Amino acid sequence: MKVLIVYDSLFGNTEKIARAMGNALSSQKDIEVRRVSQVKPEQLTGLELLIVGAPTQGGRPTQVIQDFLEKVPESAVKGMNVAAFDTRLSTKWVGIFGYAAGKIAESLKRNGGMLIALPEGFFVKGKEGPLKKGELERAASWAKAIIEN
Ligand SMILES: Cc1cc2nc3c(=O)[nH]c(=O)nc-3n(C[C@H](O)[C@H](O)[C@H](O)COP(=O)(O)O)c2cc1C
Repeated sequence: MKVLIVYDSLFGNTEKIARAMGNALSSQKDIEVRRVSQVKPEQLTGLELLIVGAPTQGGRPTQVIQDFLEKVPESAVKGMNVAAFDTRLSTKWVGIFGYAAGKIAESLKRNGGMLIALPEGFFVKGKEGPLKKGELERAASWAKAIIEN
């Protein structure tokens, strides 16, 4: 059984978070970290856990992640453990638009996925990054906590 982390990333920050999670789990799990453009829906079957992450853009996941989530067949995700994360700005006003992670989680749940952790956000200092200090470590801890549950 495998853990798959699917991510999108425009400036590389979400990719770094995804890879930090992958590294954190690699001693305990058969883990793969893949950019969304390199994932086919049929690769989603038989997973122990699917984690999907995206940059927040306009309060939502990037379009390519939205397209991916729309294409994921219900049969692939039904009953599967799922979790979602995003990267986002920490300025308060952007919060009014919402964030990507909650929307990813909702979409996975609509297809029958079993959400096993609260959607989580990791902070960048500006649109292009860098990540705020400590976020890679927080991502590693978040991923470890999920599989230990
Ligand atoms: C077009 C665009 C829209 C954005 N909208 C939001 C937003 O609504 N809320 C937010 O917190 N950050 C927003 N951001 C900042 C992104 O979250 C940030 O670029 C992202 O976390 C960087 O991740 P990446 O390096 O993986 O692309 C936006 C960035 C872009 C480029």
